[in-house]
Amino acid sequence: MMAVKVLLVGEGGREHAIAEAICRSPQNPRLYAVMRLNNPGIASLCQKTGGEVFLGDSKNPQTVWEAAEKFHVDWVFVGPEEPLFHGVADTLEKAGIPCVGAKKGPAELEMSKASMRRLMWKYKIPGRLRFKVFKEVSEAVAYLREYAESLALKPARQAGGKGVKVVADLQAYLSAEKSHVKEEHAKIIYSEHMKDYTDIEDRILIEEKVDGPEYTLQAFTDGRTVRPLPLVQDNKNAFEMDIGPETGGMGSIAGKGPLLPFITMEEYRQSVSIVNKCVKAVEAETGEKYKGVVSGQMMLTASWGPTIIEFYSRLGDPEAVNVLPLLKTDMVEICEAILDEKLHKIRLELENAASVVKCVSPRGYPDQRELAKGHPLSIDLEAIRRHGGRVYFASTDQKPDGAIYSGGSRLVEIFAKGETIMEAGEKAEACMPYVKLGDGWGVYHRSDIGSRELLEVRIEQAQLMRAVYKYRAKKGLVGKTVEWIPRKGKLVLKA
Ligand code: GLY
Repeated sequence: MMAVKVLLVGEGGREHAIAEAICRSPQNPRLYAVMRLNNPGIASLCQKTGGEVFLGDSKNPQTVWEAAEKFHVDWVFVGPEEPLFHGVADTLEKAGIPCVGAKKGPAELEMSKASMRRLMWKYKIPGRLRFKVFKEVSEAVAYLREYAESLALKPARQAGGKGVKVVADLQAYLSAEKSHVKEEHAKIIYSEHMKDYTDIEDRILIEEKVDGPEYTLQAFTDGRTVRPLPLVQDNKNAFEMDIGPETGGMGSIAGKGPLLPFITMEEYRQSVSIVNKCVKAVEAETGEKYKGVVSGQMMLTASWGPTIIEFYSRLGDPEAVNVLPLLKTDMVEICEAILDEKLHKIRLELENAASVVKCVSPRGYPDQRELAKGHPLSIDLEAIRRHGGRVYFASTDQKPDGAIYSGGSRLVEIFAKGETIMEAGEKAEACMPYVKLGDGWGVYHRSDIGSRELLEVRIEQAQLMRAVYKYRAKKGLVGKTVEWIPRKGKLVLKA
């Protein structure tokens, strides 16, 4: 029998983990990849399985189609969101090439944050946050001047996780300063974060501020069935104890089994049910079946309990690296079941271990990526293996002479597993000295990820939120807010 030929789109740490999961299949697939940079981990898997790499713009539907035609692949797996937003799955479908990855319609749930919120209100999905969306910065500023509230300001489009600012506006004596900060940030979103995006009209999303520990629920779906993976918690801030600028994620933890130590089985089930309802709502709205990956970036909030903060039409990065190395079910079988709408026949089985992923980033990331780019990687793979770590290459570019250079974002993601999160965390931490840049340019990572100390912070945050949302549930107040708006009086807002 001919080996199945799979084309993977994307070049990050998540895609390296996807590539490895596909190549572990007992069906001995042949892996091909379309990549913007030559990720050495993916390139090596392509070579080992008899496949090839196609270097090009991986978000361009025409490029992906060309690669799929060139290699006569059986199907395509799209890792990141941008190719989906640009219509890669739609173009492939027109050419009769099956694609694991949402079409443009369903992927809009991630691309347009306002579409996601509108959908949640229309279909009365639990976790509805109050929001306003603006096309003009002047309208946003006028709104911010009128309403002195605690708010989250976001680019209305998914902008690589950048541009979100949360402002607590609680003390009347600071209100003028806080309003100034909010207005300035609305202008920055408009003129910087949204400036390159012409694919949606909305520019600025202003949303009620919520607090609580975040977690990611990743799932496969064929549009009929949603098969969730174990929960993972990513840590977005660049530096220890959640300070510093937001990154794509500096590392993530997952417990043994489906839960995190700060999320209960009931909350996990509610989270799955929310994601399920969104998938059904997308089909009702767009008429398209959602085929691929769907993930909820969730928060345990005081107003709702499990709440979707953002939606992903993909696996998280680095969250994918926590779960895919532990996946025992044949990834090729999962993908083919998604394509054939037979996901209900698949049971996801994972090795029973906790895991920690730590990302190593060059200095300059995330705010000055040009400085973080072009440095030679010096990595001791053997030492990392000895300490129980596994390397997933992220933003790296291997040249024909074998040298690997930093691409400007996270360099490598190191996975380790253990009986507990702490044990996995210690193993991953022990690998950190073995990732360097050969020209002496600095790298950094977060040593607190996977530590008992940080875990205790999350548990405490969750306990507080749980006590409040459970109290609200008992009193029939879930989703209802009472606010004092200066010059307007008391407003009772119902979700
Ligand atoms: N880790 C967050 C993301 O994948 O966007």
